[in-house]
Amino acid sequence: MFHNIDTNIDIQTGKLSGNIIESEKHISGLKNVFKDETARSQMIQDTLVYRVQMHKAEKEGKEGGLFFGTSFVYPGLVGNEYFMTRGHFHSKIDTAEYYWCIEGEGVLLLMNEERECYVEKMSPGSLHYIKGRIAHRIVNTGNKVLAVGACWPSDAGHDYNSIEKDGFPVRLVCINGEPALMKEESQEGKKENEEQNRS
Ligand SMILES: [Fe+2]
Repeated sequence: MFHNIDTNIDIQTGKLSGNIIESEKHISGLKNVFKDETARSQMIQDTLVYRVQMHKAEKEGKEGGLFFGTSFVYPGLVGNEYFMTRGHFHSKIDTAEYYWCIEGEGVLLLMNEERECYVEKMSPGSLHYIKGRIAHRIVNTGNKVLAVGACWPSDAGHDYNSIEKDGFPVRLVCINGEPALMKEESQEGKKENEEQNRS
């Protein structure tokens, strides 16, 4: 009558144990993700930036199923930019996802297909519904680990390529010890400036 549970979550920290998969991202694996690539290349390359624990009770791509996980983004800076995840759209672009902040302080950076960005503050207990067609990235703006729970469809997949190519036009930087949003110049704005400089 009772089903055996093979996985547990520590609800204080979000740590999963049991039947889980883990992946880690170090500074070495985040080339061109941060604005200051020179600073990144000069850092200790095995510095851990984030770790993801996942419980996958379904096969990747299974329609109708769900996956569950916790991301842990560590505190730190590359130049003046806060540690963050690579960010992604879902391959099946209409699929949505829930995030919720378990501990730490951060920002959820969101971007639509027109590259318009908006942000949501993350603090323990904040719940974030990420609609389909919205790219998402987690940024740790605090001084301790940022743990974020997630639940997403098992057929969502991850599209990292478009983010690798163009990034997000908004970055979270540390100015005088405080987080600030830094907007990147649009390509049109850049061209206009270049033309003005030439004339
Ligand atoms: Fe996602």
